[in-house]
Amino acid sequence: MTKKIKIETELEIFESVSDLPESIQELMNKAHAARNSAYAPYSSFHVGAAIKLANGEVVTGNNQENAAFPSGLCAERVAAFYAGSQYPGVAFHAIALTAGSLKQTTITPIPPCGACRQSLAEYEVNQKKPIPIYFMGEMGKVVKVDSVKDLLPLVFDSSYL
Ligand code: THU
Repeated sequence: MTKKIKIETELEIFESVSDLPESIQELMNKAHAARNSAYAPYSSFHVGAAIKLANGEVVTGNNQENAAFPSGLCAERVAAFYAGSQYPGVAFHAIALTAGSLKQTTITPIPPCGACRQSLAEYEVNQKKPIPIYFMGEMGKVVKVDSVKDLLPLVFDSSYL
C-alpha cells in the first residue's frame, strides 16, 4: 500500500521587532550589531546571528567571505561553531538572525540556508530541546519557528550512522 504523509511547518509572524518578547528584542539587536560588522565584500549581503545560551551568554557571528568563494562561512555557522567551541555542551536557548544587502533594502525575512540548517540541527538533536529561531531582513516582519526541524524536516542525524 502506498502512503502519502504531509509534513507541516508552523511559522509565527511578528509585524516588527517591537512585537517580540523583550529578551528576543535584545537578542535581535545583537544580531543587527553583528550584521554591521560582516565581512561580505563579494556579495554585499550582510548577515548577523545571535545565539542565547542556557548559561546566559550571548554569542554572535556574521558572514565571513573569502576570495576563494566556498572558503567563506555563513553567519549562523560562525556563531554556532564559536558557541560550540567556547561553551561545549551548553544548550542554545534561541537564535536571532538578520540579513540585508548593501544593494537594496531587505524587508523580506531571510531564513538560514540549507547547510546552516543542517549544522544547527546537530546542536538541537544533541541538546534534546528545540531551538526557536527568529529571522528577519534589515527591518520589517520577523518570522519565528519553534525548532530547527520546522526548517529542516527529515533531518539527517547521527542516529542514521
Ligand atoms: N549567508 C549567510 O551568512 N547565512 C545564510 O543563511 C545565507 C547566506 C551569507 C553567505 C554569503 O556570505 C552571503 O550571505 C551571500 O550568500
